[in-house]
Amino acid sequence: MEADERAGILHQKEQIGLAVLIGSEYWSVLEGRGGENMETEKKEEKTAKKKEKKKEKQPEKVIEVKGVRKIYRMGKEKIYAVDNVNFEILKGEFCCLLGTSGSGKSTLLNLMAGIEKATKGDILIKGQNIRRMSENGLAKFRQKYLGFVFQSYNLMGSMNALENVEFPLVFKRVRPKKRKELAMAMLKQVGLGARLNHKPKEMSGGQQQRVGIARAFVANPEIVFADEPTGNLDTKTAMEVMDLIHGLARRNHQTIVMVTHDPRLAEYADKIIHILDGKIQSVEVKKSMEEIEAEAEAEIQAYKELQKRKKEERKRKLAELRQGKGVTTNEVAAADSVVTASQVAPKRVEAGTAQERLPDQSAAENGQDRTEQEKTGTDS
Ligand SMILES: Nc1ncnc2c1ncn2[C@@H]1O[C@H](COP(=O)(O)OP(=O)(O)OP(=O)(O)O)[C@@H](O)[C@H]1O
Ligand SMILES: [Mg+2]
Repeated sequence: MEADERAGILHQKEQIGLAVLIGSEYWSVLEGRGGENMETEKKEEKTAKKKEKKKEKQPEKVIEVKGVRKIYRMGKEKIYAVDNVNFEILKGEFCCLLGTSGSGKSTLLNLMAGIEKATKGDILIKGQNIRRMSENGLAKFRQKYLGFVFQSYNLMGSMNALENVEFPLVFKRVRPKKRKELAMAMLKQVGLGARLNHKPKEMSGGQQQRVGIARAFVANPEIVFADEPTGNLDTKTAMEVMDLIHGLARRNHQTIVMVTHDPRLAEYADKIIHILDGKIQSVEVKKSMEEIEAEAEAEIQAYKELQKRKKEERKRKLAELRQGKGVTTNEVAAADSVVTASQVAPKRVEAGTAQERLPDQSAAENGQDRTEQEKTGTDS
């Protein structure tokens, strides 16, 4: 080998060794790409970072339903209650499953909530496949991330409002003092600060559902499932309950999945999933994430202002009480508890227009469910 050739190979080896040591930039210099290449790399790096940020900003798919089917067997008959269903729900969306009786809404909701098991397909909640979870794992997952509101309230009859709302926190091993604090604050938020010791049978339907809502939201779950939550209420109370759920969810950026057969109630939704005979007919997106976030901000501001006003009112009432101006302690307590979302959130549906479409009017007409104001006179 000629001396020149040997020197060349040695030079190449040195180059390789150096390149390993100082990285690819060395080759750029050698290849004469120099500064220009480094700039390109910087640009690429910037673009990658931007992409990552955009990805971070992209709304989280909090629920993904993929090819889900639920078949019930009744003797030889097979009932396709949910039939090959696919959709996604984003974090912070208020989503309604809308369909006629028997269309499969409750079955689908129960599948998403992990209450029933799908015959086929996958359901991912926060990216986790609930089908692959053990019974125990699923129960813990539900406690951590999910809340439930039922049509018939499902309150414990022997417990008062406060104890009912504390209940989910017992399973979360929250200490008794903290439990009580959280439950009281939640009951105040739903306008029941003056009804803490009332048992379910000592409350109106609307009040019971408010307790049900307080119980569902007290542990601050990321997703709340509600199956016809206003199904047993008169029109006016139903709207108040809807405002309450909507306001709470917006202020805490929570996702709601609500079942209804009433198109008027679906007006509250950001996304409506139309279901018929177990199949999705269409997915109607009514609001973008930007709109939802803007609404949430406005809701938070309005709520803060309302809280401030209520605090001032309470102070004033307390001062009047001290001066013996005929204000009762009940009035002071009520002033503290009146922070219902219906006073914050604008009503989307006029009570009158939904009248004929709402279920269980007969119950309301029978006087089973007088509105809160009618019954208490002070709570709202
Ligand atoms: N446990 C079950 N066993 C057999 N069939 C069932 C069962 N649960 C539901 N179904 C059937 O599945 C279909 C969907 O029922 P689902 O309760 O989901 O309807 P829905 O839309 O919630 O109705 P509604 O508005 O009346 O509550 C119906 O045909 C129903 O009869
Ligand atoms: Mg149902």
